[in-house]
Amino acid sequence: MTNKYKYFIANWKMFGNIKSTKSINKVIKLKKFKKFNKAKIIYCPPYTLLEGFVKKLKKSKIDVGAQNCHHHNLNGPFTGSISSSMVKDIGCKYVILGHSENRSGGETNKIINKKIHVSLSNKLNVIFCIGENINDKKKNDTKRILTNQILQGLKNIKNIKNIIFAYEPVWSIGTGIIPVNSELIKNILFVKKLLKIKFNSKNTKILYGGSVNPKNISELSKINEIDGFLIGGASQNVNKFIDIIKKTYN
Ligand code: PGA
Repeated sequence: MTNKYKYFIANWKMFGNIKSTKSINKVIKLKKFKKFNKAKIIYCPPYTLLEGFVKKLKKSKIDVGAQNCHHHNLNGPFTGSISSSMVKDIGCKYVILGHSENRSGGETNKIINKKIHVSLSNKLNVIFCIGENINDKKKNDTKRILTNQILQGLKNIKNIKNIIFAYEPVWSIGTGIIPVNSELIKNILFVKKLLKIKFNSKNTKILYGGSVNPKNISELSKINEIDGFLIGGASQNVNKFIDIIKKTYN
């Protein structure tokens, strides 16, 4: 339970079709209740649904983001890719970058850094994902990995006010396993401290992502240091997504 301002970012990944756009009606309705004033909801559907979501959510207080973009600034001969200016042009306010599912496909910190630069220059807010994998965790290497991801990903970026961080331990994504509260708090505080030292940031938002669901949300929402959640699987089911928001404020 909380009365804090929290983010609920729905990462639909490669799921959803035109028909599933209808499911967000329930969330639009929910957002009208005063009780959920402090719930900042952002939908990140696949590219094919972005335009439909932007139109549908226009009069609501819910924003839309893309799940990725190309690292080149403007248009170019990059078959199958979408630029950050296109994401902006269609009416999105956010873009998720550095997700582990893209890192594991070969996206390096250097490429992520370029993506962050072009996205910020196109006036998008960046949802920057970081997190250690299971081997890093076993080797007690989490802090070093997080430091590298942050410092290399944010190279030559002076101002991080338009960046939201999503701490997503790779071993928690889609597995149903979440870190124990003490471990989560320790890593979130480590990131906050690093950002404060390196970027002089004060109010940087840090979300947690990885198997957030209606069963574990009551426990997770007790953690004051977490500014919200990046939700994959559970966000694709509108009732589960609503349950997560309700349980956070109940
Ligand atoms: P999950 O995904 O909630 O299905 O674990 C989270 C994410 O990948 O952002």
